[in-house]
Amino acid sequence: MEWPSFVKALLWGLLVFLQFHQHRGCFHEERIALLELKAFLKSNIIHADVLPSWMDDAKSDCCSWERVTCNSTNSHVINLSLYNLNHDPDYYEDYDYNYYGQDDENRWLLNVSMLVPLKELKSLNLSANSIGGCLPNEGFEKMSSLRNLRILDLGYNYFDNNSIPQSLGAVTSLETLILTQNKLQGYFPAQELIALRNLNKLDISRNYYNGFLPLQGFERLALLPKLEILDLCFNSFNYSIIPSLSGLASLKTLSLAGNDLGWFNTTTGFESLSRLENLETLDLSHTYLERSIIESLPAVKSLKNLNLEQNFIGGSFPIKGISAFENLEKLDLSYNILNGSLTIQGLESLSRLKKLETLDLRYNFFDKSIIESLSAVKSHKNLNLAWNHIGGSFPAKELSAFENLEKLDLSWNNFEGPLTIQGNQPN
Ligand SMILES: *[C@@H]1O[C@H](CO)[C@@H](O)[C@H](O)[C@H]1NC(C)=O
Ligand SMILES: *[C@@H]1O[C@H](CO)[C@@H](O)[C@H](O)[C@H]1NC(C)=O
Ligand SMILES: *[C@@H]1O[C@H](CO)[C@@H](O)[C@H](O)[C@H]1NC(C)=O
Ligand SMILES: *[C@@H]1O[C@H](CO)[C@@H](O)[C@H](O)[C@H]1NC(C)=O
Ligand SMILES: *[C@@H]1O[C@H](CO)[C@@H](O)[C@H](O)[C@H]1NC(C)=O
Ligand SMILES: *[C@@H]1O[C@H](CO)[C@@H](O)[C@H](O)[C@H]1NC(C)=O
Ligand SMILES: *[C@@H]1O[C@H](CO)[C@@H](O)[C@H](O)[C@H]1NC(C)=O
Ligand SMILES: *[C@@H]1O[C@H](CO)[C@@H](O)[C@H](O)[C@H]1NC(C)=O
Repeated sequence: MEWPSFVKALLWGLLVFLQFHQHRGCFHEERIALLELKAFLKSNIIHADVLPSWMDDAKSDCCSWERVTCNSTNSHVINLSLYNLNHDPDYYEDYDYNYYGQDDENRWLLNVSMLVPLKELKSLNLSANSIGGCLPNEGFEKMSSLRNLRILDLGYNYFDNNSIPQSLGAVTSLETLILTQNKLQGYFPAQELIALRNLNKLDISRNYYNGFLPLQGFERLALLPKLEILDLCFNSFNYSIIPSLSGLASLKTLSLAGNDLGWFNTTTGFESLSRLENLETLDLSHTYLERSIIESLPAVKSLKNLNLEQNFIGGSFPIKGISAFENLEKLDLSYNILNGSLTIQGLESLSRLKKLETLDLRYNFFDKSIIESLSAVKSHKNLNLAWNHIGGSFPAKELSAFENLEKLDLSWNNFEGPLTIQGNQPN
């Protein structure tokens, strides 16, 4: 039996409709915007082959282009990963002043308006592109219509405090703002950012900030109720910044590493850290701290992870007051000048840290007596005593007392004689 021709027509139509839908791909206006963006990037980026898959060809679906992600339901562009378009292998190397100080001849200015047609954009990564700022009147204030933009990474560029962060206050949907390693300097204009009520993570590390305007300081950030992660590392802040941070009650992670906190060897201000009642991770590494400052730190009961690496903390271990951090899981005291064994009081105080699993004492001046002392602490899973001055025969007997140990590093010490291990034998 022949099917009536109208049924055939219907089926044919359905097939065409399905095919059309399957290959619908990205929106015309978003495709055009991306192609214009490519042309603009091409005129600024020195790499010969910028975004080769972004082809000006009607059959090419922009949702399948490199570094573009679309929403699989509605085909709007939601994610642009336009980092390091020069494919420079050195860009994300460890912080390197020399690299950073290199000539800026490749710097160029962004036209933020070009991104505005990508109405549903959620995440934009422009890191490591030698961007020196924005074209006049084409700054981030233009992004205020991008109501879904949550993540903006502008790190490893040459933004200075004329182009940023003032205009970023307009992007009120932001949850994550990364400005690491730029040329921001002078005073941090917190006032400009308090409109970012959804901000969860702010990273202004590796810039040249040294202060805060008395009335526009970090205390203003207390108005950001969701701010949990604040990264201020490797700037030039001194101890006077700390009281201004104490109102940021929602903070869970605070990094002050690489600042000049201990430079004036004063304990002033550190007590105000006690107000950070939700703080879980505190990074105070590379901050010139001496023992007296550590001893003045208030008990932050919520703290799980304390990093004191590379300071000038001397004398015996543990440090007075450390046992007040009763929820501590990880303590890093590597690269300090600690020595000597635990005193009875010290041992008592350390054994109060019942959750301490990881203790890093690498690169200090401990001798063999530290091992015996530490073996009284049962919670350790991970102990690092590499690069100390522990000599004599291998302390197999003492080590067998560490009940929970999973990982132990004793490399680069001065042991001699035969190696015997008396770990708990599996039976
Ligand atoms: C954006 O896409 C890149 C890959 O292109 C992916 O690594 C990244 O996780 C995505 N970001 C978000 C927020 O979805
Ligand atoms: C994709 O779009 C749909 C419908 O607009 C929305 O419900 C969903 O959350 C979006 N998904 C993503 C990952 O943006
Ligand atoms: C920036 O891009 C927009 C949109 O493509 C364009 O209309 C505008 O002229 C550009 N601005 C400058 C200063 O080039
Ligand atoms: C942006 O891309 C770089 C390089 O892939 C990555 O390291 C960085 O984490 C990305 N930023 C965000 C916010 O995901
Ligand atoms: C920007 O940097 C200059 C130093 O070049 C400084 O004097 C000025 O106060 C800074 N502006 C802001 C808003 O921090
Ligand atoms: C600490 O930094 C603030 C802000 O930059 C500055 O005003 C003050 O003089 C600095 N303190 C000392 C002792 O240098
Ligand atoms: C730092 O201050 C403490 C306590 O006041 C003191 O004992 C120590 O000697 C000082 N350090 C230096 C290098 O002056
Ligand atoms: C331990 O360090 C302190 C202070 O840094 C020093 O005075 C003392 O002599 C050292 N003790 C040993 C045994 O090296």
